[in-house]
Amino acid sequence: MAEYESHDYDVIIIGAGGAGLRAAIEAKARGLRTALICKSLLGKAHTVMAEGGVAAAMGNIYAEDNWQVHFRDTMRGGKMLNNWRMAQLHAQEAPDRVHELEAWGALFDRTPDGRILQRDFGGHRFARLAHVGDRTGLELIRTLQQRVVSMDVDVFMECKILRLVADAEGVVSGAVGYWRPTGEMVVFSAKAVVLATGGAGKSWKYTSNSWECTGDGHAMALWAGADLIDMECVQFHPTGMVWPLSVRGLLVTEGVRGDGGVLRNSEGTRFMFNYVAEMFRAETADSEEEADRWYDDHSAGRRTPELLPRDEVARAINTEVKSGRGSPHGGVFLDIASRRTPEYIRRRLPSMYHQFMELAGVDITAEPMEVGPTCHYFMGGVRVEADTGAATVPGLFVAGEVAGGMHGANRLGGNSLSDLLVFGRRAGIGASDYAAGRSGSPRPDEGEIQHSITEAFAPFERTDGENPYELHQELQEMMQTLVGIIRTGDELERALGELDVLRDRAAKVSVGGGRAYNPGWNLATDLPAMLTVSRCVTLGARDRKESRGGHTREDFPSADPEFGKVNLVQRQPSGGGVNGDIKIVPEPIPEMPAELAELFEESH
Ligand code: FUM
Repeated sequence: MAEYESHDYDVIIIGAGGAGLRAAIEAKARGLRTALICKSLLGKAHTVMAEGGVAAAMGNIYAEDNWQVHFRDTMRGGKMLNNWRMAQLHAQEAPDRVHELEAWGALFDRTPDGRILQRDFGGHRFARLAHVGDRTGLELIRTLQQRVVSMDVDVFMECKILRLVADAEGVVSGAVGYWRPTGEMVVFSAKAVVLATGGAGKSWKYTSNSWECTGDGHAMALWAGADLIDMECVQFHPTGMVWPLSVRGLLVTEGVRGDGGVLRNSEGTRFMFNYVAEMFRAETADSEEEADRWYDDHSAGRRTPELLPRDEVARAINTEVKSGRGSPHGGVFLDIASRRTPEYIRRRLPSMYHQFMELAGVDITAEPMEVGPTCHYFMGGVRVEADTGAATVPGLFVAGEVAGGMHGANRLGGNSLSDLLVFGRRAGIGASDYAAGRSGSPRPDEGEIQHSITEAFAPFERTDGENPYELHQELQEMMQTLVGIIRTGDELERALGELDVLRDRAAKVSVGGGRAYNPGWNLATDLPAMLTVSRCVTLGARDRKESRGGHTREDFPSADPEFGKVNLVQRQPSGGGVNGDIKIVPEPIPEMPAELAELFEESH
């Protein structure tokens, strides 16, 4: 029997981005023995990549803004596939979460009269994003982290969790993982587990996501018997860097467009005017003059088409490039230099200024940027109960990007930071209540623990297997090409075949060296989750025979009202880890209550 270190808690939280930190604060405040576990260093979470702001209808710039408008924008942005209850709670509670963050020390930018400044972002009717220049995610993490440390939450860093472990009754009761610095195994037993592991963009070649985003939480939840929903809905943020190649995919914040930046093709045309979908036509400007007036006064004009929801903008850029009107390195031009003063750009967008200057030698106060779509965010994820974050297996709670439902088929920018505050808190409460009501000590199944450890060590036992880096690279190429921004049935079938082959090959990877800080081994232990999540995305994309939000099928180019009534639910009834059989079934989306449905009527 393999040996391991063990720890016992009431609540453990896996992942220390915004959602994990916020959940930990709540559990600790309720007096529960709380541990926060992250595979990176505390403070290095991918949350920092939500740069432009946190969406909350505080009405500081436009008094007409309120939670109902925010709710409606979110649902329309998500193409009505959203869990309406999550979207409602989110819109109602986001302002309180932002004010709370301010009370905890977050230094938001200010209006001249001292209120929190709010900026425009795509799909939001009003300027709604509270921000700190273009470093909002960083400020959010800094503030929450300081709070966690001041509350004395136990933090375990550089600990990679491999599996959730249930007890004999099937209640999730802990997790098994290893310390990256030593390679030694560790088991956490807990009365409740919160997953806050973020996204899974690292399976695509061009992504804004950092190395941590390997879909561990999505996969571990599925392996533990939880339902995933709408995994086909992956967001390609319209603006990532396209050059130099070494940083292709790195995020260029939507704040650039929010602050006046415009998109042009190689012919100098502001092409977004040609891509306004019917559902947004009435509220979108049809001339440059009108669009520009809107920045100064939202009641004097209709919104600029550069700030349509992300799915619309990303598809438009893709079409321009495919039609031969792209920039020299395969993107389009994002221009703020000709529209705002250098002083304004450097003050509002300091990170973008620095990023382009240092990485591409481009001065964004004088020249346009080259940008193109980059894999950014998973709308699909673990199915949760809206009010508590409870997953469909007992003992498991989920918050942030790894949870599905809140954003439907497409997320509005800025709604992720508010999501993780609202639902991080709620999952922290849900897990605390569950843990408080659970009697006896949690007893994670020893057989499952030993099995996970054997599986983790297996790459060291093989001498002539494949290199995990090669497999990862092939997975990224394949997902980028076959399961990218525009999909077809044939390509998705091919992708499923390729995933079968990669799965078989992944079972044979070998690594050399010791276990301490061994990145090859770390990657080998990431591959099962990446392959599982890639399969779920591909299965969902194959079965959703329509185009909706972030999911675009060339062979089914329109939204199908019948598909608009269902979530595609995936589950693995017989367990089996990465080799388990995944079932996918459409299940009806619960009906919205009349008082919410009314908000979509013309009079609103
Ligand atoms: O463009 C951005 O600043 C990203 C924000 C988000 O994804 O919410």
